[in-house]
Amino acid sequence: MIMLYFSGTGNSKYIAELFCQYKNIKCYSIEEKVNFSELITSEEAIGFCYPIYGSRAPRIIREFALKYMENLRNKKIIIFCTQWLFSGDGARAFTDIFPKKYFEIVYAEHFLMPNNVCNLFLLPLENENKIKKYIKKAEQKMQSVCNNIAKGIIKKRGFNIISRILGLFQGLYMPIIEKKSLDTVKITDACNQCCLCVSICPMNNLEYEYGKIFQKSNCTICYRCINQCPEKAIIIFFNTKVKKQYKGIWGIKNKI
Ligand SMILES: Cc1cc2nc3c(=O)[nH]c(=O)nc-3n(C[C@H](O)[C@H](O)[C@H](O)COP(=O)(O)O)c2cc1C
Repeated sequence: MIMLYFSGTGNSKYIAELFCQYKNIKCYSIEEKVNFSELITSEEAIGFCYPIYGSRAPRIIREFALKYMENLRNKKIIIFCTQWLFSGDGARAFTDIFPKKYFEIVYAEHFLMPNNVCNLFLLPLENENKIKKYIKKAEQKMQSVCNNIAKGIIKKRGFNIISRILGLFQGLYMPIIEKKSLDTVKITDACNQCCLCVSICPMNNLEYEYGKIFQKSNCTICYRCINQCPEKAIIIFFNTKVKKQYKGIWGIKNKI
C-alpha cells in the first residue's frame, strides 16, 4: 500500500505522513516527479489524502485521479479528507469522477484541521494553542483509524445519504467558484519579485516575465502562495489584503 496526497498548506501532508508513519508505508505528494502509473499499478491498495474545498475535492487531485484512472481500477482505496469545520461528504467527493464500483473503498475518514483561508474575517485563523489541539485530536483519530484498518473494520465517512445531501448543498456553488478562481491571483505593488510564489505553485500557474509575475488562469485555490508570500503581496478570490498568514503546523508540532 502507498499513500498519495495533495496539500496546499501542509495539513493534508501532515495527515498523510502520520498515517504512513503508523503503517510504515511510503507517502508521495502528487506534485513529485514519480512514475505514478507504474507505482499505482504495482500496489494493491492506494490511499488518497486531500483538503476539502466547499465539499469538493481540489481540481488538482481530481485531474490527477483522472490521469491515472485506468491504473486505479479494482484497487482497494482509502480516503482521508482534511477540513476546517464541515464538508458533509468530503471523503466521498473524490469518488464522484469514477463510475460506480470502479474500485473498493475500504476506509474513508474526515480530519478536522486548522483553517487556511487567511483573507476572510468570517474564517479567522486559529492561534497556536488551538492548532495544538487540532494536532492532538487528529493524532488520536489516526490511531483509532489504524486500529480499525488493522482489524479489518470498514468505515466510510461521508458516504451516507444525509452527508451526501449536506455536501450537495454546501458544494452547490463550488463549480462556479472554481471557474471564477482560475485567474483569481492578484499580485499587488508590495511584491518584491522574489518569485517564491512562482516556484511553489502546484499548478505552475504563475510565471515571471518582463519584471512582473503573470498568472496562466490555472489556479486550484490551494492558498499556498497567499499564505507564504513574504511581502503579503498576493490577493486571492476575496479582494482583501492578508493580515495574518497560515504557516502550517510543522513549526508548532515541533514545540509540542
Ligand atoms: C478554497 C477553500 C475552500 C475550503 N472549503 C472548506 C469547506 O467547505 N469546509 C471546511 O471545513 N474547510 C474548508 N476549507 C479549509 C481546508 O479544507 C482545510 O484548512 C484543510 O485542512 C487545508 O488543507 P491543506 O493544508 O492540506 O491544504 C477550505 C479551504 C480552501 C482553501
